[in-house]
Amino acid sequence: MNSFISWIGGKKLLRKQILEQLPDQNLYSRYIEVFGGAGWILFSKDKHAPLEVFNDVNGELNNLYRVVKYHPEPLQKELEWLLMSREQFFDELNRNIRGMTDIQRAARFFCLIRESFGADCRSFGVRSRDIQKAVNYLKEVSCRLNKVVIENQDFERLIKTYDRPDALFYLDPPYYDAEKYYPDRFNPEDHERLRKCLGSIKGKFVLSYNDCQQIRELYKGYPFIEVDRMDNLVNKDKSRRYKELIIKSYTF
Ligand SMILES: C[S@@+](CC[C@H](N)C(=O)[O-])C[C@H]1O[C@@H](n2cnc3c(N)ncnc32)[C@H](O)[C@@H]1O
Repeated sequence: MNSFISWIGGKKLLRKQILEQLPDQNLYSRYIEVFGGAGWILFSKDKHAPLEVFNDVNGELNNLYRVVKYHPEPLQKELEWLLMSREQFFDELNRNIRGMTDIQRAARFFCLIRESFGADCRSFGVRSRDIQKAVNYLKEVSCRLNKVVIENQDFERLIKTYDRPDALFYLDPPYYDAEKYYPDRFNPEDHERLRKCLGSIKGKFVLSYNDCQQIRELYKGYPFIEVDRMDNLVNKDKSRRYKELIIKSYTF
């Protein structure tokens, strides 16, 4: 199934190539998506493993996932007022979330994601969208999340908590040089912190990154799979491709 949101750096266009690189499903019994975002890889399968974990350090995103999982109907009710309106978008953006319930916060964040340009949650994106269809879809998403553990941790702590020989970590960190999109959450030195952490795990990992010299250096010795996707957001030229790397801790 599809994710229920768009997200900066979301892997919608690469999900097929990434899924092809996951090991055989009977080789792992816990699947952990460390940098969750819109969870395109998680949602691409009905079930990855008996234990599935979705994590993201972004508290508003985490609250949205928990509310979709546990309270889809009250959230749908809260979203009945949702319009595709510039005024409403900026009212929500400037609203103080202090004192709001989790369901109200989730509705506000859903509105900011759905109605912003490129899901940046800051600028109003002018386009026609079937909002009602997106709201109806939340019930299906809730069923998919039924047995998924939703976590809100920094990656290092999460990896240490779930690491076992039978674990598979899928990691999609902020791109090298794109840390500015995740202020307070991911700093340039965190690429090295992640590399160090992955160097000592017992489980397997699959990592996706932008293809650049610094990442090739950092993960030297691991198998690299080169892939590319349409660079559709920034460039109007649809033939321009954006190069990415899939890095794995195993060779089969
Ligand atoms: C490139 S996006 C992931 C996109 C996702 N794979 C998808 O398909 O939508 C990176 C995510 O990492 C999260 N993040 C940033 N710093 C983090 C940290 N220190 N620990 C855990 N998550 C973090 C961000 O909030 C963001 O949602």
